Amino acid sequence: MAQRENFGSGLTAMFAMAGSAIGLGNLWRFPYQTGQDGGAAFILIYLIFSLIISLPILLCESAIGRSSASGTFGAMDKLAPGTRWKWLGLLTVFTPMLLLSYYSVVGGWSVGFFAESLVKGFGADASSRFSVFTSHWWLPLVCHTLFIGTTALVVSAGVKSGIERFNKISLPLLFVLIVLIAVYSTSLPGSEEGVRYLLKPDFGKLSPRVFADAMGQSFFSLSLGVGTILTYSSYMKKETSLLRAGAGTAFFDLLFALIAGFAIMPAVFAAGIEPGAGPGLIFETLPFIFGSLGQAAPLLSRVISVLFFLTIAIAALTSSISMLEVQAAYLIEEKKFTRGKAVLLVALVTWALGVLCSLSGKAFSVFDYTVSNFLLPLGALLFVIFAGWKMPREMFRSEFIGEGSRKGSGRFFGAFLFMVRYVIPVAILIIFLTNFQ
Ligand code: TRP
Repeated sequence: MAQRENFGSGLTAMFAMAGSAIGLGNLWRFPYQTGQDGGAAFILIYLIFSLIISLPILLCESAIGRSSASGTFGAMDKLAPGTRWKWLGLLTVFTPMLLLSYYSVVGGWSVGFFAESLVKGFGADASSRFSVFTSHWWLPLVCHTLFIGTTALVVSAGVKSGIERFNKISLPLLFVLIVLIAVYSTSLPGSEEGVRYLLKPDFGKLSPRVFADAMGQSFFSLSLGVGTILTYSSYMKKETSLLRAGAGTAFFDLLFALIAGFAIMPAVFAAGIEPGAGPGLIFETLPFIFGSLGQAAPLLSRVISVLFFLTIAIAALTSSISMLEVQAAYLIEEKKFTRGKAVLLVALVTWALGVLCSLSGKAFSVFDYTVSNFLLPLGALLFVIFAGWKMPREMFRSEFIGEGSRKGSGRFFGAFLFMVRYVIPVAILIIFLTNFQ
């Protein structure tokens, strides 16, 4: 078998993980969720959860991945051979498949809107563009095909020359783009209301539901629970500090979400629109805004709309690449496929499932609901239980106290293990139950 590839350095490994983390979750889910759940109060809870719950889960996945140097299925097989943990391995091949199928449909929309903003721009008809776009059944399908095709192309080029190279360019570019858009958006007359919407803490809105939303958002945004972090970490060199790569990923993901909030909400309020949920926000409201601003400054608004949809498309690509890699790694390592064949097979199956989601809104929402509310927390719960209780303690420890870590990190390990064994599983169970309410 060909030698297993690695990311070139700790920094590029972090870029890849942050690329997976930064995606549609930051661009439409975060701003909307923040407004709905109490503005700055929600951001604060989200921040605390990300640090004390999600970051440790990310580190667990990372430790499992690097110590086994395998994808999800192989990791279970190496660290707990012949046990029922192999089902966790299989679950985390299956979940990203479902996830990628509808994620790619939304990715496709962003490609379609990028093309529209480039070719036509948005005029007075902007807010109905989305329904016109989706009313041609074939148009979203073509875009979905393009999106998954591009994802497959990058993954088939390999860990170093495909995934690493793509993320190394995309991640800095994404930050430049989103900052430009945020500057533009906050400079619009009437945008202060949007800034207030994000920053005004409304503690009156806090409820168990808000805590559950914050945790769910944090899991989704950091790509937890389906083995993407595990698989990427399995390509990290021994000298790379897991702690630094993980903390860097969480930091950049959060930073991007915040800037995305300031890119989107001020523009929404400047146009005097009530922020709506999900796809409606970025595919209906924003084209409308670009359209109405276009009358005053056509060129500028055209440029901003092109940049905006480009940002969404690239952010979605860096995430979809990580979802495809998890599945490809399974076929390459366990079924001895060549990378090219593995990617082709996964892309075809996911494409077919995506066609279903593109044609049927029902399939789309069933997939999304099952993945976000059930499969992601389940995967995350099983990974922390595995790392805390099943994985050999010394092996777990040496991932943090090993070559890539700072002196003194051993002192924190006890506290970390306590969190992983007791606090985090209980916290995940609680959101699980809240979701069933
Ligand atoms: N984190 C990405 C986003 O915010 C999506 C994503 C990529 C993901 N890989 C994942 C979500 C694994 C959950 C699990 O859009």
